[in-house]
Amino acid sequence: MPDPFDYDPRDAYDDDRLLSGAAQDDELRLEPSLRPTKLEEYVGQERIIQNLRVGIQAALERGESLDHVLLFGPPGLGKTTLAYIIAHEMGTSLRTTSGPALEKAGDLAAILTNLEAGEVLFIDEIHRLGPTVEEILYPAVEDYRLDLVIGTGPAARTMEIPLPRFTLVGATTRAGLITKPLHARFGIVHRLDFYSPAELSTILRRSAGLLGMAIDPGGAKELARRSRGTPRLANRLLRRVRDFAQVEAEGRIDEDTARRALAMLEVDEYGFDEVDRKILGTLIEHYSGGPAGIQALAAAVGEDRGTLEDLYEPFLIQEGFLQRTPRGRVATRRAYEHLGFPVRPGTPGQLF
Ligand SMILES: Nc1ncnc2c1ncn2[C@@H]1O[C@H](COP(=O)(O)OP(=O)(O)OP(=O)(O)O)[C@@H](O)[C@H]1O
Ligand SMILES: [Mg+2]
Repeated sequence: MPDPFDYDPRDAYDDDRLLSGAAQDDELRLEPSLRPTKLEEYVGQERIIQNLRVGIQAALERGESLDHVLLFGPPGLGKTTLAYIIAHEMGTSLRTTSGPALEKAGDLAAILTNLEAGEVLFIDEIHRLGPTVEEILYPAVEDYRLDLVIGTGPAARTMEIPLPRFTLVGATTRAGLITKPLHARFGIVHRLDFYSPAELSTILRRSAGLLGMAIDPGGAKELARRSRGTPRLANRLLRRVRDFAQVEAEGRIDEDTARRALAMLEVDEYGFDEVDRKILGTLIEHYSGGPAGIQALAAAVGEDRGTLEDLYEPFLIQEGFLQRTPRGRVATRRAYEHLGFPVRPGTPGQLF
């Protein structure tokens, strides 16, 4: 039987692009060392942190386990990190698995029956649970009970096994793929937002400290600006720029060193990657700037619709390059300017 704890998060994405938010090989090894472990070390997402702090304190005072938590948001924004923090703050341990690792109902049943009271079970990519596995989860999270069907046909009967109280933390990059009944079973649901450049600067300075690197505020600001609002990307750029700084600038990352290093790595001013450019470029060149239907746009750039909606659009919309209208997606003035196309009259968006 495959070990459900032994899964590879990289299976979710086949993605080694420098500017992808998805984790890369070496990061799986390096990230734990940069990961904040306490609520007070977690930068940004203030509303979520505030809510969790209250929830955790209340649960601790009552001697109960925390309500089940569902976290969603694009890769690299800190979902897994939050799951570890929740377990740490609750004074318990985290058991980790993922949707794709739980192939059969029995895989999940085995994990559930081995949980200790109060433990946190983290299911990453929870949108990828199969229907039979998901059904095992419902009574488990609702009534701390496992319903096992024994036998088949007319002789089949259900056996109820009591489970210890535990907290389920589910994470997903694809909010649209969570089934309604599963969603309804989480008492605490949070969507993670992209980080501001100031928050990313704080994260970068902290990471630099942990890695024994020297970075000044100007250098941090420059890296933060191009990290697509994503801590994982900020940390990745930091490591890539380190080599450059070591060879060219006596190890110190200031604004000038950061700029030159990022130019060498071909990191665009806003941290765009090929897919971002393709989305906007296709809209402008083939759809006269839009509106274009999401389905047609997805086909044209060779990604599936959900990936476009969940992973790419949020950043482009937040940064004002793309608008979502009832008739479809529209490229803004800012997109034309950034990609170097002459702006058509009537294009939405301010002059930036
Ligand atoms: N709020 C934060 N403060 C400081 N560092 C952070 C924060 N959020 C994330 N990080 C850093 O970014 C890295 C990636 O975060 P994490 O693995 O939690 O992302 P994720 O949302 O689980 O991504 P995925 O969807 O790919 O699983 C962490 O190792 C950590 O170093
Ligand atoms: Mg994760």
